[in-house]
Amino acid sequence: MKRTTTLVSVLALAAWTAGPTLAGPDDHQLVINDEIQIITEAAAPAHMDGIDTIYSGWRFRADETQALELDDFENPGMIGVENAMAIWETVDGSEGKSCASCHESAESSMKGVRAVYPKWNEAAGEVRTLEMQINDCRTTRMGAEKWKWSGGDMVDMTALISSVSRGMPVNVAIDGPAQSTWEKGKEIYYTRFGQLELSCANCHEDNYGNMIRADHLSQGQINGFPSYRLKTAKLGSVHNRFKGCVRDTRAETFADGSPEFVALELYVASRGNGLSVEGPSVRN
Ligand code: HEC
Ligand code: HEC
Repeated sequence: MKRTTTLVSVLALAAWTAGPTLAGPDDHQLVINDEIQIITEAAAPAHMDGIDTIYSGWRFRADETQALELDDFENPGMIGVENAMAIWETVDGSEGKSCASCHESAESSMKGVRAVYPKWNEAAGEVRTLEMQINDCRTTRMGAEKWKWSGGDMVDMTALISSVSRGMPVNVAIDGPAQSTWEKGKEIYYTRFGQLELSCANCHEDNYGNMIRADHLSQGQINGFPSYRLKTAKLGSVHNRFKGCVRDTRAETFADGSPEFVALELYVASRGNGLSVEGPSVRN
């Protein structure tokens, strides 16, 4: 309760309007193409104590926005998936290879991959996001240039890799060698940033279901990434969204691909363990 009061007063100070209602998620079901069942509600993972039930951000969106995800022909994010299918087959770099040279089809080789990333990579001794793994294949195995973290080719490729795991439950590992990175991400999640002194948790844990300006606050889950924003009319990466949220607190933000955001991504992904992989999703 105390935190809610703080948020409302801080937002009032900032001339934002906190909405009057306490409307939670709706009770709609997400089945894509009449075929892929998406788990949009699940019991919270054991490591979370502030929340009992986790929800996909889809459950907080307006009906018209939700509808765009029901059918791949309506989902503008699927254009990115198609682009990436062409890139998958395209030779690039000094080794004369394409992704397909080593991985065959994305459907067969990448099924299940999105669900377990970010993931500890033993040889590299680091937690890797999908973007890091893809760039590692490009530089060390293809002799090609890195893609920009949130650039078009990279985001499209992560959309393709996500799309073949849709419906599978997110299941990132947070123990063993990944634990220290996870702890660091958790610390960032609960740190208050910016002039507004707001943490991720102040909005997405204490106030999900409430309105901020015209936005219905979700739990800030990342099971739907990459996500097509109607506002920007393009697919965006997880780190791109983190940046926008940090900026909204009027703070200096971390960079795409920074160790801070990698750690935060692992932590936020783990808060969605049990929800389905849903990307590319559609949001306002
Ligand atoms: C020369 C062979 C080769 C090429 C070309 C290649 N990869 Fe890889 N890729 C690998 C190998 C080997 C691994 C496992 C490496 C590891 O675990 O460190 C891998 C792992 C991956 C993984 C992680 C899979 C998992 O189960 O964790 C992804 C994602 C991936 N590659 C994407 C791509 C993409 C996208 C491209 C094209 C831009 C590409 N790779 C090109 C050899 C290749
Ligand atoms: C001032 C409140 C506020 C703070 C603080 C905030 N966010 Fe958000 N966030 C929003 C709003 C508003 C949206 C858009 C509506 C929604 O999906 O909740 C959003 C959306 C998101 C989404 C997209 C969810 C989806 O399903 O597409 C993610 C992920 C996210 N936030 C993560 C974070 C993280 C991580 C932090 C901390 C670095 C954070 N947010 C801090 C307000 C906030």
